[in-house]
Amino acid sequence: MKTLLIDIRHAEPEDAGGIAEVHVESWTGAYAGIIPHKALTRMLNRRGREWWASAISRAASVLVVEIDGLIAGYATVGRNRARELPQQGEIYELYIRPEYQGIGLGMRLFAAAREALADHGLDGLVVWALEDNDGALSFYRGAGGQDVAEGVEVFDAKALRKIAFIWN
Ligand SMILES: CC(C)(COP(=O)(O)OP(=O)(O)OC[C@H]1O[C@@H](n2cnc3c(N)ncnc32)[C@H](O)[C@@H]1OP(=O)(O)O)[C@@H](O)C(=O)NCCC(=O)NCCS
Repeated sequence: MKTLLIDIRHAEPEDAGGIAEVHVESWTGAYAGIIPHKALTRMLNRRGREWWASAISRAASVLVVEIDGLIAGYATVGRNRARELPQQGEIYELYIRPEYQGIGLGMRLFAAAREALADHGLDGLVVWALEDNDGALSFYRGAGGQDVAEGVEVFDAKALRKIAFIWN
């Protein structure tokens, strides 16, 4: 039997290519048919390997899950951007490659992201998810998040509702 080596850690600049792949695959899987095609393509094209390398070198707030040398998921964390919510931390993004979803990696990455925010001295956290993203809503409810606020995000004139989950 093969033992898989799973590592969750802060991203290094060399991870940029792997994260860029996860970004394209997981966003396409999650949002095709929800976010208008043109807007989604534009968002994906904006971030290639260089964009990620620069994001990683600017801030220590990108985490990755690595399985036997392959980047299987990433999360970005930092200060909460929504002034109306008192929680200090935010998980901006948390994505797992489609073929690695549903085996517990998301939950482990979520726990690591929460820990990283606490290590930065940030108390409580917020995550926003699109209301049409059923998988994400079940995931955050399952992780104990309380949905406390709603917002709207507009993509090429299509307004999509989003929900804020909080943990104190
Ligand atoms: C949402 C996501 C991060 C979850 O990560 P994951 O590794 O697939 O989830 P896990 O295997 O850790 O599952 C943990 C729990 O979440 C729930 N869950 C995860 N994905 C789900 C889905 N697609 N539908 C329903 N429930 C889901 C399950 O209830 C599971 O609990 P269980 O162990 O009792 O079955 C991942 O599937 C993903 O990247 N999805 C696409 C992108 C996305 O929507 N990201 C979040 C944007 S805000």
